[in-house]
Amino acid sequence: MENIYYPHKGVVKEIKEETPKIKTYRLKLDKKLSFRAGQFMQLTVPGVGEAPFTPSSSPGEVEEMEITIMRTGRVTSVLHKEVKVGDFLGLRGPFGKGYPIEKFIGKEILIVGGGVGLAPLRSLIYALFDRIEEIKQIYICYGAKSPEDQCFKDEYKDWERKKKVSLNLTIDESHPKWKGTVGLVTCLLEKDYLKKIGIDIKNSYVVSCGPDVMLKFVTFKLLEVGFKPEQIYLSMNRRMSCGFGKCARCNIGPYYLCKDGPDMCYADIKDYPNVFC
Ligand SMILES: Cc1cc2nc3c(=O)[nH]c(=O)nc-3n(C[C@H](O)[C@H](O)[C@H](O)COP(=O)(O)OP(=O)(O)OC[C@H]3O[C@@H](n4cnc5c(N)ncnc54)[C@H](O)[C@@H]3O)c2cc1C
Ligand code: FES
Repeated sequence: MENIYYPHKGVVKEIKEETPKIKTYRLKLDKKLSFRAGQFMQLTVPGVGEAPFTPSSSPGEVEEMEITIMRTGRVTSVLHKEVKVGDFLGLRGPFGKGYPIEKFIGKEILIVGGGVGLAPLRSLIYALFDRIEEIKQIYICYGAKSPEDQCFKDEYKDWERKKKVSLNLTIDESHPKWKGTVGLVTCLLEKDYLKKIGIDIKNSYVVSCGPDVMLKFVTFKLLEVGFKPEQIYLSMNRRMSCGFGKCARCNIGPYYLCKDGPDMCYADIKDYPNVFC
């Protein structure tokens, strides 16, 4: 039986600077690793520590994995400053349930991301591209602080060219290099905007990932424009430790986000006090 405490090795093959604070690490895995979009890994920087991250690459790739990481504290700072191509990192997992892709078949999917929150969603986007014939339409709504803070910029043209895909971008404040929409990501969820892009609210699911405060206002806006709690999935990327339901560090009501999530249906969690902390 696989020992969940024992990390696999991933050798850093490529490092891409997405933004001044976010880098994507492409890892060559020591053995094939399957995961579902939305499941997460515990990544170890040897001698420093471990932290949870959701792969940003396609779940179809089993020999290599991309993880997109924002610099926030101890582990991520060492990772950004010291880890180089050729170094190895540890990987435990995958943990959690991942997105309920089977539910999305025949539906329109509204993907709402903020900042580095587009990283886990990119893995979902690739998984949906692989099953595009079975999906009705994908609407991607992504907000970043500025054009410099947008993740995966070089992929936008390819995404837009795909059939059944609508890409909608906004930045927080006007910027000389930006000619598109300005405002928080919720401005892409206003009734008029959703009407313009043609979403069929009744026949859709929403998946959102981003900072807690963004998830809160995105959820309220979605409810205001007519989505039901059952249609909304939120990536609850809270502090975690064990990753498999033992340390009680990550619960909302009876749910352990590491085991039952991290992507939770809002209908299941909405009545507990610490949903948006
Ligand atoms: C399931 C899951 C998936 C995640 N996926 C990604 C991902 O794909 N890319 C990515 O960049 N980050 C992701 N995160 C967040 C990432 O785990 C944290 O940024 C990381 O643990 C910080 O580690 P650190 O040692 O550098 O920071 P620390 O020294 O532990 O903390 C530094 C600062 O970051 C805050 N912080 C720490 N952990 C979190 C957290 N989970 N959420 C919000 N704030 C936090 C602390 O409060 C503190 O202010 C994910 C988190 C979870 C739980
Ligand atoms: S991280 Fe330990 S119970 Fe969830």
